[in-house]
Amino acid sequence: MSPLNDRADGAGHAAIAGADLSGTAGAVADLDRLILLGLSAHLHRHSRLGRSAAGLPAGPGQDPAHEADTIAGDLGAAPRHRWIAGHWLGALHEAGLVGRDAAGRFHDLHAPRRAELVTARTRMEAARLALGYPAELAELMLRSLRLLPSLLSDEVGVQALLYPDGEPATAEAVYRGNLISRYLNAAAAEVIRDLAGRSTRPLRILELGAGIGATTADLLPALAGRPVEFYLFTDLSPFFLDTARRRFDAGFLRYALLDIAHDLPRRPDELDLIVAATMAHNAPHVGRLLGRAAALLAPGGRVLLIETVREHPQSLTSMPFALSTHDGPPRRLDGRAGTTRTYLSREEWLSALEGGGLRVEVDLPRPADPLTALSQRLFVATR
Ligand SMILES: C[S@@+](CC[C@H](N)C(=O)[O-])C[C@H]1O[C@@H](n2cnc3c(N)ncnc32)[C@H](O)[C@@H]1O
Repeated sequence: MSPLNDRADGAGHAAIAGADLSGTAGAVADLDRLILLGLSAHLHRHSRLGRSAAGLPAGPGQDPAHEADTIAGDLGAAPRHRWIAGHWLGALHEAGLVGRDAAGRFHDLHAPRRAELVTARTRMEAARLALGYPAELAELMLRSLRLLPSLLSDEVGVQALLYPDGEPATAEAVYRGNLISRYLNAAAAEVIRDLAGRSTRPLRILELGAGIGATTADLLPALAGRPVEFYLFTDLSPFFLDTARRRFDAGFLRYALLDIAHDLPRRPDELDLIVAATMAHNAPHVGRLLGRAAALLAPGGRVLLIETVREHPQSLTSMPFALSTHDGPPRRLDGRAGTTRTYLSREEWLSALEGGGLRVEVDLPRPADPLTALSQRLFVATR
């Protein structure tokens, strides 16, 4: 990798200096376990899984197999959220907590014992501290489990989970106030400093899906005192633009609504940097999005992605609800088509960037870094 990769990694680690990373993988597994057991318990309580044909608790091997859609009906899922039952059952199957027959039907769901649930709940606190998450993250996980019936029935929207009382503290906990986000945002800020240092003209920057601005807030200081023509802050939702207008005061910031499923409305060869933090996976076809983004870059311009490379079970009770469209699962036209997969693997992200005519310069954290267990990465690629 490039010297920029080394400098960005150094800046990322400086931002979390002193953190003990030895327990990272174990802490991720503990948070995942809590949600998987919570889901098993919910499915046991509210669906026919784990019951005999007569509706009684089934012994091993007496449990008939059921289609995921039947289970979605048992759970009272709204039509647009019905796919989530199959998504959960797939994850439970991967974790060895439910059986799946050759026809893709599910059976023999693990019935969590009370002691198992209590242990998982107890370990959550140590795990969130090890990963540097504020208390809001634990509250989000527990609230999502409590609210499952109303989330599934669509009486409660995911916004109420992520923005309780309209406040962004929970979303900040997820996207900023934790070890991996601090590392990634500091590494990304180093890339911006590098770009600002080498540019011969005021920078033109576009951020896609900028949301609550959790990444923007860490990037803007790297531009302080540098010539910037514009930093165009965009999102699908006017709610985020209004919040950002109140939050940020840099004179070069501009705001616009922009849906990446449609055109990216800038001129070709215009931009020095396109930032997309935990949002490019929303594109129906990631390769096509990156190809269109590359065409907007001036030669030497960069795309900076912060992305997830594996869905962790700990987000299963929140994120899928944000992905449902009005009619059901999100539309996927790339390698995820026909699956309920949200993210690309690291290799798929790299090849989508290269397929767009971009050269990858930063791919972090490094393979042996304990932070890789968090499955969030920084990719920077140059036209
Ligand atoms: C996971 S949040 C990330 C927010 C932000 N980048 C950050 O790091 O704080 C994803 C954001 O992408 C936006 N988004 C989702 N689909 C989009 C689309 N098709 N076009 C533009 N933005 C989209 C959402 O509104 C949300 O603000």
